[in-house]
Amino acid sequence: MHLFLLLILQATAAFGQIDPAHCRYALGMEDGRIKDADITASSQWYETTGPQYARLNREEGDGAWCPKEQQDSSDSQYLQVNLGKLTFLTVVGTQGRYARNSGNEFARAYSLNYSRDGVLWRAWKNRLGNTVIEANKNAYASVINDLHPPIITRYVRLIPITRLSTAVCMRVELYGCPWDEGLISYSAPEGQVMMPPSSPIANLNDSTYDGTRERRRLFGGMGQLTDGVIGQDNFLRTRQYHVWPGYDYLGWRNDSLGTLGYVEMEFVFDHQRNFTSMKVHSNNMFSSGVKIFSSVSCLFKPHLNADWETEPVAFKTVLDDRNPSARYVTVPLNRRAARSLRCQFHFADVWMMFSEISFQSEDTILPTQMTSPTASEESTTMITTKTATSPSATDQPDVENTAILIGCLVTIILLLVIIIFLILWCQYVCKVLEKAPRQILDEEVTVRLSSCSDTIILQTPPVPPRSGHASAGSTNTDPHYERVFLLDPQYQNPAVLRNKLPELSQSAEASACGGGYAEPDITQCTPHQCFHSNAPHYAETDIVRLQGVTGSNMYAVPALTVDSLTRKDISAAEFPRQQLIFREKLGEGQFGEVHLCEAEGLPEFLGEGSPLPDRDGHSVLVAVKQLRADATSQARNDFLKEIKIMSRLNDPNIIRLLCVCVSSDPLCMVTEYMENGDLNMFLSQREIESTLTHANNIPSVSLSDLLHMSVQISSGMKYLASLNFVHRDLATRNCLLDRRLTIKIADFGMSRNLYSSDYYRIQGRAVLPIRWMAWESILLGKFTTASDVWAFGVTLWEIFTLCKEQPYSLLSDEQVIENTGEFFRNQGRQIFLYAPPLCPPSLFELMMRCWRRDIPDRPSFEGLYQALRPHVNQ
Ligand code: ADE
Repeated sequence: MHLFLLLILQATAAFGQIDPAHCRYALGMEDGRIKDADITASSQWYETTGPQYARLNREEGDGAWCPKEQQDSSDSQYLQVNLGKLTFLTVVGTQGRYARNSGNEFARAYSLNYSRDGVLWRAWKNRLGNTVIEANKNAYASVINDLHPPIITRYVRLIPITRLSTAVCMRVELYGCPWDEGLISYSAPEGQVMMPPSSPIANLNDSTYDGTRERRRLFGGMGQLTDGVIGQDNFLRTRQYHVWPGYDYLGWRNDSLGTLGYVEMEFVFDHQRNFTSMKVHSNNMFSSGVKIFSSVSCLFKPHLNADWETEPVAFKTVLDDRNPSARYVTVPLNRRAARSLRCQFHFADVWMMFSEISFQSEDTILPTQMTSPTASEESTTMITTKTATSPSATDQPDVENTAILIGCLVTIILLLVIIIFLILWCQYVCKVLEKAPRQILDEEVTVRLSSCSDTIILQTPPVPPRSGHASAGSTNTDPHYERVFLLDPQYQNPAVLRNKLPELSQSAEASACGGGYAEPDITQCTPHQCFHSNAPHYAETDIVRLQGVTGSNMYAVPALTVDSLTRKDISAAEFPRQQLIFREKLGEGQFGEVHLCEAEGLPEFLGEGSPLPDRDGHSVLVAVKQLRADATSQARNDFLKEIKIMSRLNDPNIIRLLCVCVSSDPLCMVTEYMENGDLNMFLSQREIESTLTHANNIPSVSLSDLLHMSVQISSGMKYLASLNFVHRDLATRNCLLDRRLTIKIADFGMSRNLYSSDYYRIQGRAVLPIRWMAWESILLGKFTTASDVWAFGVTLWEIFTLCKEQPYSLLSDEQVIENTGEFFRNQGRQIFLYAPPLCPPSLFELMMRCWRRDIPDRPSFEGLYQALRPHVNQ
């Protein structure tokens, strides 16, 4: 980790830039590092309100500096602070005279003048040219003002501004960091304006330059190239608000500077230094004709009144036509000693743009080497001498770059290692959770929603009495029951399951014998799933049945055997397959495909009483399910069986079989085409109707639409239940919508990969929609109309969450199965789906009734339909 921090530090330090966001150290008014002698003023009211009392948060003397007499707008009294060395000043804090509640004078505003040499004074302006800084509203609170742009200065004057004639007093702190780079001015050609069509207008001037402008050159000042703000890759974008495109850059056009082909800049420093490098932050948006400079050559002047040395340091850059990022270009300066530099930057394209220039010399102290805002001057100095740029690095600037690169790479590698470690750790934790699902539920609070609000009531389940013999590590804390963990191989053996759950075998047997529930029970009739023949048992053939053929589920029908199926069992008419014209694929499953087809002449073919909507009378759009040519004979029989079942169904809310093509391969069944696709997709793409959805044209549905959908599904299911058909996979993904939003229940099973995560594969054998399944279906393989009612409750929940979330989305499949055991035990530990915020309370109560543990306690579809119908159009 040390290495990591070191590398980060190295990488940061290597940039050698002042970052105004971090250069905010108190400079010593409050703590006295700035000596009294360095604080002067144009005047003072009394001895006891002299400039030495202008220290923030201090109460010495009469509590502040107060200039003589009352101030009016024509006065320009000032408080002057000598910072002792060049400083990058970023923040000013002010207070009034409070004097332990006996004073009430303060400055509502002030302006700043500054000087680098104590001779030439300049007025500070913000980026929009304003000089006035809003200050205090009372005598005690300090007001902190960030300086944009920051000031590089040694002396600063605060000039209180008053509109009325009043007494003002001030206490002050200044914040910043040393400007150890030592640059005191640069001169350059004035920046220019980029005009369309190369780009929108971009003004590339140096708008905060504090020197003079003569003959289109800037002299004797500093500005945007030293304000610590680096420009963005796109020079039109700016880091400041309310400024113009191109603001962050100083830029020049090649042909505007005569035939020179370069930009000449001069840099003057506070004293002679041994320069190691210069870093130029340069734009490289080559698509707009902007590139970093192709080469630079610098001359050196050891003293201000000496001549330029004849031998330049020249440097050629590696131009980059691939990466348009703005970047620092580091120019090695070979430790040449100088007080002043003159550099010519050569154009590589039409435009050249710089946003920052900094210099590294052997006496440069990097801002990152400051210790803390409260560090004493001595300690700062100590750090300074200790951490000056190492000679080896300056000998070979490339080595420095390589170090940065290595630093960055190692940082990235370390981050990757950490991420990989975290991922592995998460996987490990998940595994542990998987292995110990009981612990999760033991520790988990029961999430129960008592009403239709979005408030989740979390209650810690009562701690069951512990068996005295239970071992400490045992997960079975309750002697009264043992959990069912379906994934445990022992529970794959139904005999074991029944032994473990004696209650279960009673209730299941009662149910299997029709006890308390009127419908015939298919577990009695399908040997694979009959509890009496040791179900639950999901054999491969069961998967086929469960899923249907073209991925479609098979409605479970009593006493229907595969062998008995022949063509004469199928009541749907044979349609000439050459009249089915393929339009597009609607879905694909393990056993075949579903296509949208045009069926030529189908209305006439079906004749009177055709359920098809009126078209031009000749062709109509239909959905065609087609069995794969290489399907097994089992799949073929299942397909025919599905046709047989469907041909007997006739209800406005059940998808209708129109005709078939079974006289030759591939076997096809033709159903109505539902223009609005499935309900899950339909709702997930919509929001609940509101003024917002209206105003913004967002696809929406109303609450009454949702209720109408719920009624239609209950109606379709009521019909199926009346025929003793068990659907086994009711869910929004299996409901289709036509143009008029009529819902028809269909069954696609696993036919669409889209919904594969809704199904759980138990030990690689059965594929089950566990989140929609009743506990008895999961634990006992028992599918009845009552388990369809359970699924209907979950379907309602989907509808009222607008299908934005999978049921029990916070639980893994294994935890859902664990939760099923809790539903069976019914000891208040089961986790229920929460009440969707949209859903009326009475409706959520209805859902909760669908999830009752005991089958007779669940409503029938007739009851559900009767309960839901009155809600529509209220
Ligand atoms: N996808 C599968 N069957 C469909 C149908 N009948 N209508 C629309 N899309 C479908």
